[in-house]
Amino acid sequence: MTITDLESTAQALVASGKGILAADETPGTLTRRLEALKIESTPNSRRAYREMFFTTPGIAEFISGVIMQDETIRQKSSKGTALADLLAQQGIIPGIKVDNGAKLLAGSPGENITEGLDGLRERLKEYHEIGARFAKWRAVIAVSESLPSATCVNVNAHALARYAVLCQEQDVVPIVEPEVLMDGSHAIERCEEVTGQVLHAVFGALFDQKVSLEGMLLKPNMIISGMKCARQASVEEVALATVRCLSRHVPAAVPGIVFLSGGQSHVAATAHLSAINRLDAPKPWKLSFSYGRALQDEALKAWLGKNENLPRAQEVFYHRAKCDSAAALGKYTEEMEGQPAAA
Ligand code: 13P
Repeated sequence: MTITDLESTAQALVASGKGILAADETPGTLTRRLEALKIESTPNSRRAYREMFFTTPGIAEFISGVIMQDETIRQKSSKGTALADLLAQQGIIPGIKVDNGAKLLAGSPGENITEGLDGLRERLKEYHEIGARFAKWRAVIAVSESLPSATCVNVNAHALARYAVLCQEQDVVPIVEPEVLMDGSHAIERCEEVTGQVLHAVFGALFDQKVSLEGMLLKPNMIISGMKCARQASVEEVALATVRCLSRHVPAAVPGIVFLSGGQSHVAATAHLSAINRLDAPKPWKLSFSYGRALQDEALKAWLGKNENLPRAQEVFYHRAKCDSAAALGKYTEEMEGQPAAA
């Protein structure tokens, strides 16, 4: 694959009205989410959970790609088809999370560094053989009055760039995800300040390490108030601050920006994305979604691990994806929430 193929995959992931399903929770994280609803977590129940999303009728209208986790990409559906093939057969691009998680950063109390660079070239080769055409690496940046430290920002930016250039070497499109957490009581202005610093460092590192901007996607947080902040910014304020921050720090050569939901409610994540796309301002990139919780949570509650709930859970997921697809076009309205979910 040449750079041109990387570019066309990156562009396909942000095709008009389409976005990404982040279904890459580790078995540990997914077990916590399942057990909170009294659903037993086994490799088989986790496979059944993923399969519910991947076999939702008509979902390829709205979903361009799915990020899987190592366990999932090696599993087969109940009918014996590899899950990666099941996606590819519908025109959905299989993706893979390749980081090994955020670990405590020595010397910087309260901060994390994402690990997983050792052996990454070989792992990417194998994932490509299994069918993955894009990957994800998540860096986590905590915010307080004194955090993040410059050390934390710089080491995470460096690791993101090392990951990204290795992906491109192996013909895999890197999704570069520096997540500034919404945990905390900070105001929206502080989120904008920190996100700007982080994006500045990340694009500096990507430039230094010769990452092709045309063959990658950025997965950032939106600019929003900290979860415990007394003043929660309005949808319009979030849209304005997000586009302003991205305009200042993300080169126009990047084909797409796919937001994480980060703990926002599903409706807030949809409304924010739509307002961002509706905003009358120069936006040289496609702006879409790569949601995990905001796409899955309602369907998980409808499913509850029971086969008889599958059709209803799939309707719920279809409806959420339809709303997020409309938001990626700036066309979501609150009235859509009440509309029937069927395809
Ligand atoms: P959330 O949308 O739940 O934040 O998950 C997206 C993701 O991939 C986080 O790494």
